[in-house]
Parts: sequence; structure tokens; C-alpha cells
Amino acid sequence: MNDHARRVQEQFGAIAAAYVSSPGHARGDDLDQLVAWGRALSPARVLDLATGGGHTALAFSAITRRVVACDVTEPMLRAARGLLQGRAAAADFVAGDVEALPFGDGAFDVVTCRIAAHHFANVAAAVREVQRVLRPGGSFLLQDILGHDDAEAAAFVTEVERRRDPSHVRAYRAAEWKAYLRAAGLTPIESAVVMKGRPWDEWTTRARMTAEARAQLEAFVLAAPEPCRAAFDFRVAGGRVESFTDRMLLLRADRD
Ligand SMILES: C[S@@+](CC[C@H](N)C(=O)[O-])C[C@H]1O[C@@H](n2cnc3c(N)ncnc32)[C@H](O)[C@@H]1O
Repeated sequence: MNDHARRVQEQFGAIAAAYVSSPGHARGDDLDQLVAWGRALSPARVLDLATGGGHTALAFSAITRRVVACDVTEPMLRAARGLLQGRAAAADFVAGDVEALPFGDGAFDVVTCRIAAHHFANVAAAVREVQRVLRPGGSFLLQDILGHDDAEAAAFVTEVERRRDPSHVRAYRAAEWKAYLRAAGLTPIESAVVMKGRPWDEWTTRARMTAEARAQLEAFVLAAPEPCRAAFDFRVAGGRVESFTDRMLLLRADRD
């Protein structure tokens, strides 16, 4: 296992339950949009990559015959299994890295991946694996944080993210995603952007930051240039950060 995969497992393995209870993962316009795209495709076999607490796998289990939930972090898979079992939903749970998926060629009609790709060490390799495990004509339904066009704002938020969670790599702009997809033989078909609010206390405590690290991160945000904060709609009241907003990119891309 490489250093980055170890970092991901250390980060998520200790806090798996928090991703099951996280409201921003459990629901949202982003999840509704992915499910709407999925329902229109009537897939028989769905793979949910980087399933985390299992919310996307759970939502897709209602619209397909077979869901496979895959994640590199075993405690996350156990947490996802608990969520789906508690809702009487069926799925298979398979440990695996998106860069080397343990599935055969063309095994799935739809592959989903939500709120996860910004943790991948090598997005190009991950997208190639998605293309390989999709049948020809199958669809990749992706949702992830949209990278900001302004370089200073993008660098600011990447620093905030990495101080909170060292397994964060970075968010990509729509043009970057489309280039990765096309290079792997996936054609972008539909896209959307939806907002996701990040309540500061919930967001920082979910990552199990120490009180000291949280205070330092808040000071970093408060000291940042105002346009950087404005780019993510950071809300500040009484000298405290209250929330910010991520733009989430959703893409459907079909295998050529
Ligand atoms: C925020 S959670 C995903 C949330 C989930 N998809 C949902 O809709 O609620 C991010 C997940 O990505 C997983 N992950 C990160 N890098 C990975 C990789 N290379 N291969 C597989 N899973 C990975 C982590 O283990 C973690 O469970």
C-alpha cells in the first residue's frame, strides 16, 4: 500500500461512524440529482466507488437489482454495511482501491462516485479503472467538489482542506474532469453544479481535529484575503467562522 492510501485509511478508519451520521452525506440535492440520472438509466448492476458511510449505495439500492459498494478503508465498509442492513437494503461490500479495482472488465452498467475523488492520489488512473469496469455504453455518475477557477482562492481552500484532513489532495475544475474522462474513453453527457453548505463546527469536529488545530485553522481562515473567503461564502459572526459553501460538480459520462 502506498503512503497516500495509508493516509486515507488512517483518516477515515477512525471516524467511519461520523460519515454515516453526517447530514451532508446522508442527503442533498447532489444525491437527488445522481439518483435521477441513475433511475433514467435503469441499471441492473451498479458499483459505488469510495462508498464511505454508504449513502450513495443505499440510494442506488432502491433503483437497481445489484449494488456493489467498494472502499479502500475497511472500517468504512463495515459502517456502510451497518447502514444498509439497518435499512433492509441489499448490497455487496468489497474492499478495493479505485486505482486497481478488483472487478472484471465491463462488469457494471453504472459506476457512482460521490464526495470522494478529491482524496484520490491519481485521478487519471482511477478514471481509467472506471472505464474498464463499465460495459460499453455504461455510465459514470460523478460528484465532487468543484475546483475554483481563481488560483489564489483554489490554493486557499486546498490549504484549509488539507489542514483539516491530510488525505485531501485537491478539487478539479470541470474542464480538468472532462479532459480526464475523455482521455480514458468516457464522453461527458450531462453536468450540473449544486451548492453544499458546510457548517464549520460540524465539518471540523467530524474530522476529529484537536481543539488547538481547530483554533489555528479558524485563525488561518480569518486572516485570509477577503476575496478568498468570499469565493466560498465563508460566514463569520462575532469573530467566529460559522460556515462556508462548496460548489459540487456533477457529471455523467458514458463509456465509448
Ligand atoms: C467522504 S467519503 C465518501 C462519501 C460517500 N461516497 C457518500 O456518498 O456518502 C470518502 C471515502 O473515499 C474513500 N477513498 C479515498 N481514497 C480511496 C481510494 N483510492 N480507493 C477507494 N476508496 C477511497 C475513503 O476511504 C472514504 O471512505
